[in-house]
Parts: sequence; structure tokens; C-alpha cells
Amino acid sequence: MNLYNIKDNSEQVSFAQAVRQGLGRDQGLFFPEVIAPLADVDALLDLPLAERSARIISHLLGDEVPAAKVSELINAAFTFPAPLVKLKDGTYALELFHGPTLAFKDFGGRFMAQCLAAFRTNDKITILTATSGDTGAAVAHAFYGLEGIEVVILYPKGKISPLQEKLFCTLGGNIRTIAIDGDFDACQALVKQAFDDEALKKAIGLNSANSINISRLLAQVCYYFEAVAQLPKADRAKAVISVPSGNFGNLTAGLIAKALGLPVKRFIAATNANDTVPRYLKTGQWEPHQTVATLSNAMDVSRPNNWPRVEELCRRKGWALETLGSGMRNDADTRDALKRLHQLDYLCEPHGAIAWDLLGEQLAEDEVGIFLCTAHPAKFKESVDEILGLDVPLPAPLAKHAELPLLSVNLPAEFAGLRAFLLA
Ligand SMILES: Cc1ncc(COP(=O)(O)O)c(C=O)c1O
Repeated sequence: MNLYNIKDNSEQVSFAQAVRQGLGRDQGLFFPEVIAPLADVDALLDLPLAERSARIISHLLGDEVPAAKVSELINAAFTFPAPLVKLKDGTYALELFHGPTLAFKDFGGRFMAQCLAAFRTNDKITILTATSGDTGAAVAHAFYGLEGIEVVILYPKGKISPLQEKLFCTLGGNIRTIAIDGDFDACQALVKQAFDDEALKKAIGLNSANSINISRLLAQVCYYFEAVAQLPKADRAKAVISVPSGNFGNLTAGLIAKALGLPVKRFIAATNANDTVPRYLKTGQWEPHQTVATLSNAMDVSRPNNWPRVEELCRRKGWALETLGSGMRNDADTRDALKRLHQLDYLCEPHGAIAWDLLGEQLAEDEVGIFLCTAHPAKFKESVDEILGLDVPLPAPLAKHAELPLLSVNLPAEFAGLRAFLLA
């Protein structure tokens, strides 16, 4: 597979290079040079998730990675299902939260971890990342137990929820966690200093588990096929998919699936009050506002970093941007949508609820609607409990970790201490 840097097309890399490098020159995103339609989508849709996904990824990667190796990576990464659940109103929820950290990030994170382990060139790799809560869990669980890869995660001491902390600070093994005396910005600044330190970088094979990594997107393409595969055959050509969007990686993956020949009629880009894209699609003006905090906090992004990939693909395919559905919901709408979903006997969380509400608004009578449920309701327990008057039980993976002792060390927000820790 050849990829090029969207900002500087002369920079071309293989898939393995793109996985290792993350970003191209000038912070440019890598994008596949060719996305050829799949030969027999109907036959593929009849296959089980892992087998179908391996074929899709293999088709995209071409002869760079042998098909048997791709199957191995996918089988190790996709160890959980993505069920399509029919709601009483006739729409479908694609539940992407049945992985170890209860969010859609498990698909991309686990596949990326497998790829990095498979394509590493250094003797040693150290993944260093800062988290304000959720990314730490996804990264830690994705890399846990992978030979030759050390993971170090920094987080602000006392500033993440006790449960979030338990989820990634109790693993041990190749996962080391550091509670920093400072806020999230201080953690991020330390990570940045580490990446600026060439000697350190070389000594420990420093790498980031950046969410912009192309391997994550390719993994996400696979669950769009899984959604359509679970629809009744007669409905497959009528699917409209509503995607809760922040950085727009999820939507990019959906559009790649469509470019591969998945029969999706339309996508809806669903945002919260951070609605740069819906406003842009309406007015043609790219005018990011100051980011505001919302109930769907993982989508609190006003400068979505995957948007250039959406534009690039639409340009190449000749798809007018205006054909993309979009819309925004504020916190009051989100609360109301969560309540109405609960009346339909479906327990959701704020991100999925926004996608469902916009789907309801924009779905035509002859269409079949799917909305993506990107996180388990228990991951947003505080707001879900408060809005619905419930006490959402913890699913088994969270409950299990809640009982284990914390293994984190504590460090001040000073680079010298972190450097010594990393080199020890
Ligand atoms: C729960 C949840 N929903 C939706 C999103 C938005 O996905 P994307 O950033 O790919 O648009 C995120 C992103 O982190 C998320 O964590």
C-alpha cells in the first residue's frame, strides 16, 4: 500500500512506514493512494467479522503484507463483537463498546498495537502518552502483553475519575503508569519534551500511539461492513449511518468503506455544540469557534484533525461535500434524546444519543437508519445516572479492575525525573 502526505504529495510511504511515523512532514496526514472497490461485496457481507475484516484490510494493503499475516493481526485485535441492535422506533444501534475498554477506540487501538509490534524496526519501542482519562485505558489495554513494547502513560494525579484510573493503572507487565503532580497540560508538556529529546528518543525507541495513525482508520472501516452485514438483505441498499463526530476519524473510516463499495446511501456527521463542520457544510465558511465543554466531551473539538482526509476522499471520488448530512445538538437536546431513547428501552450515552437524534430528524421514510454507539453508558455514568435517575451497573471489565490495587508511581511535573524514570 502506498500512502501520500496530503500536505506534500511528494512524501510517499508504505503502510508500515505510515504506521511507525504517524504524521508526515509539516504535520500532514497520510492517505492511501488507491482505494479500489472490492470485487464482491455481497459475498464478503456473508462472512464472519474477523474473516471479512482480514479480507478488506488485505485488499487495501495489497502485497505489502501477506494475507496470512493480516489475518493474524486481525484475529488478535478483533476479539469482541459489534452487534447491531434494533430499537423500537425501527432504527438500529451499532454497539461498538464491547471491547476491553468499552469504546470504539478498542478496534483502532488494538489493530494499531498489533501493526506496530509486527512492523517495528527498533530493538525496543517505548510508547509514551499523556491521558486525561480514556485514551490511557485504550492504549494500555491494546499494548498490554505485546513483546518488546514498553508503554508509559502519564496522567494528572487526582484529576481523573477513580474508575478511569483503575482501568489502566492496575495492569502491570509492560504497562507503567505515572501520576503527575500537575494538570493534563503539564503531562502533555512532559511528553512533548521527551519527543524533543533526540538522545532519549533514540535510547528507548520513543513512539506515540497517536490517534491520527492510518492503521486506526483502516480498522474502523471494518465495522461499517459489519453494520450493513447485520441488516436484513432487502434493507442493505437503504442504509443511512449517523456518526457521532469530534475529530472525524470515524466518519473518514465510513467514507473509505463507501469508497470500497459498501452500499451506504448517506452519512450524517453528528456533532455537539462544537459544530465547525455542520456550519461549514451549510455556509461554506470554515470558522472554528472557541471549543466549549459539553456532555459529549469526547467530541469537544472545534478543529477536527481528520477533516482534511474527508475532503481529500470526497474530492478524489467526485462526491460533493453537500451530499454529506450533518447537524448539531446542544446539551439540552442531548439530555432530551437520552430520555427519549430510554423510553424506547434503550440505554445510551451522550455521544450515541446525539447521532440517534439527528438520524431521526434526517431519515426519509424509505431509508433504514443506523447510529453508532461509540461508548458504553457506564463510561459516562455520572451524566447518564443524573439525567435518567439510574445507577448504571459497571460491566465486568470495569468491575474487575475496580477491585485491583493501583500500580502507579508518583512524579513531580519535571522533565528530569521523567527522563531518569524512562532511562532506568
Ligand atoms: C465516545 C466517543 N464518541 C465519539 C467520538 C468521536 O469520534 P471521532 O473523533 O473519530 O470523530 C469519540 C472520540 O474520541 C469518542 O470517544
